[in-house]
Amino acid sequence: MTILQGQVALVTGAASAAGLGFATARKLAQLGATVWLTDLAEAAVTDRAAELNTAGLNAHALGHDVTSAEAWASVLATIEQETGAPDILVNNAGIAVLHATPDLDPISWQRQIDVNLTSVYLGCRAALPAMRAKGTGSIVNLSSVAGLVGIPGASAYAASKGGVRLYTKALALEVAREGIRVNSVHPGVIWTDMQQVAIKDNPDQYDAINASIPMGRMGEPDDIAEMIAFLASPASKYVTGGEFVVDGGLTAQ
Ligand SMILES: NC(=O)c1ccc[n+]([C@@H]2O[C@H](COP(=O)([O-])OP(=O)(O)OC[C@H]3O[C@@H](n4cnc5c(N)ncnc54)[C@H](O)[C@@H]3O)[C@@H](O)[C@H]2O)c1
Repeated sequence: MTILQGQVALVTGAASAAGLGFATARKLAQLGATVWLTDLAEAAVTDRAAELNTAGLNAHALGHDVTSAEAWASVLATIEQETGAPDILVNNAGIAVLHATPDLDPISWQRQIDVNLTSVYLGCRAALPAMRAKGTGSIVNLSSVAGLVGIPGASAYAASKGGVRLYTKALALEVAREGIRVNSVHPGVIWTDMQQVAIKDNPDQYDAINASIPMGRMGEPDDIAEMIAFLASPASKYVTGGEFVVDGGLTAQ
């Protein structure tokens, strides 16, 4: 399928082979997009792009700290020069600071907000001028079920993801008449490095988490990539400001 042929996509946080960013980049490339994968982990993200190119897809990689406005300007300038500006932006990079408030120090709180929320604003701000000039664009921001319901022990993460949810809606309204769509995706529990780190001290949690999900299992990165691909593509041309839960029924309970 080539529904994204001629489109340029940027996916942040795409270095992990098991992560949502790489699965999304691969899916968008399989649909015909020229895909830019970025990450703090420059060597790993370069390997991921090489894997896609070896598979006959069209991918490029850049080192990128999404918390830096200067880095965003530099990344966008490179992309614009080499392939033309992104038509699709997927703000996926993120970290999970998992502490209950009494154990949450201000530096960790600020780092969580910077990486998960301020980065999304910086990315949208950097990508919008070219989308505005073209009169078209799709931005997909990774929130979480933790941006919809409270999860004890994840207060900073929840605050960052709740912020992404409402920032997405506000921006969607700001640009709705300009051909630019902005939506958030809310994964449930997906088995990536982030989850493996989160439960490393308590492996018994693996079975308990699976049991707590109505569909009986954690999600796979492709489950999220499919939703993002829909939101990136013209198939969702009347969809903006929406929040798309992909959680095996977790938050329906
Ligand atoms: N895995 C889940 O269950 C789950 C659930 C809900 C939401 N999410 C969200 O989905 C997104 C992807 O999650 P994942 O599970 O694939 O995580 P992951 O840890 O596998 O990948 C995240 C990537 O972000 C990169 N990154 C971190 N800080 C960065 C920075 N400052 N600049 C650039 N890159 C940076 C990391 O290097 C890593 O490659 C995150 O925003 C996460 O919060 C994940």
